[in-house]
Amino acid sequence: MRIIIEKDAVAAAKRCAELIVEQIQKKPNSVLGLATGGTPVACYQVLIEMYREKTVSFAGCKSFNLDEYVGLAGDHPQSYRHFMQKNLFDHIDIDPAATHVPNGLAKDYEAYGEVYEQQIADAGGIDLQLLGIGSDGHIAFNEPGSSLGSRTRLKTLMPETVQDNARFFDSIDEVPRLAVTMGVGTILESRQCLLMATGGHKADAIAGAIEGPVTCQNTASALQLHRDAVYVLDEAAAQGL
Ligand code: GLP
Repeated sequence: MRIIIEKDAVAAAKRCAELIVEQIQKKPNSVLGLATGGTPVACYQVLIEMYREKTVSFAGCKSFNLDEYVGLAGDHPQSYRHFMQKNLFDHIDIDPAATHVPNGLAKDYEAYGEVYEQQIADAGGIDLQLLGIGSDGHIAFNEPGSSLGSRTRLKTLMPETVQDNARFFDSIDEVPRLAVTMGVGTILESRQCLLMATGGHKADAIAGAIEGPVTCQNTASALQLHRDAVYVLDEAAAQGL
């Protein structure tokens, strides 16, 4: 594992974006795994700036997002598809047909999970997977108790996660209780994992993930088993290390 500690959230976002751009410069047809949540927004802003300055082009890239709320259509303002359009895809030159976000309206999630996994495999697997971390240590929506070998599937959200994500909705009652998410096993197959965390409220989850045991109670801890996992933290998120 490589742990990079930057002074603040702005510097962490810049560093993260630079690592993604390095990957694309090395391999212009990279398959990117992308994440939602408040944390990556600043990183996406830097990527958009770098695209506008012509430092990078996403024209050859494909993308796969980690997760989506169940019951929300892609044009719902709180869906992760909408989030990605607004915060990244609408501002760069990625081919819209090459962007994938799990379908929150699938009929049969067991079958759909396999379809999403197959799409990733057909693209050649994920070169770089960007990740955030939940305050309970979850990656994507792999809540505590998720199998470390899990694949793309339905997952029930923990009350803490519903509470954390309520800030994006008008009221907590509107937050879906179910999500479709890549599994921990799916994520571990990415050739590189890049986890970004900022702020003191992530310090316990980060300390557990990096220095605690590998456990399904903090699914980010599974990255200890990955041969190329990089953490980009700000000082506040790193304070428990
Ligand atoms: C959600 C997402 C995760 C994300 C987490 C933390 O649960 N499914 O992928 O890492 O939120 O988000 P934030 O960056 O807003 O703290």
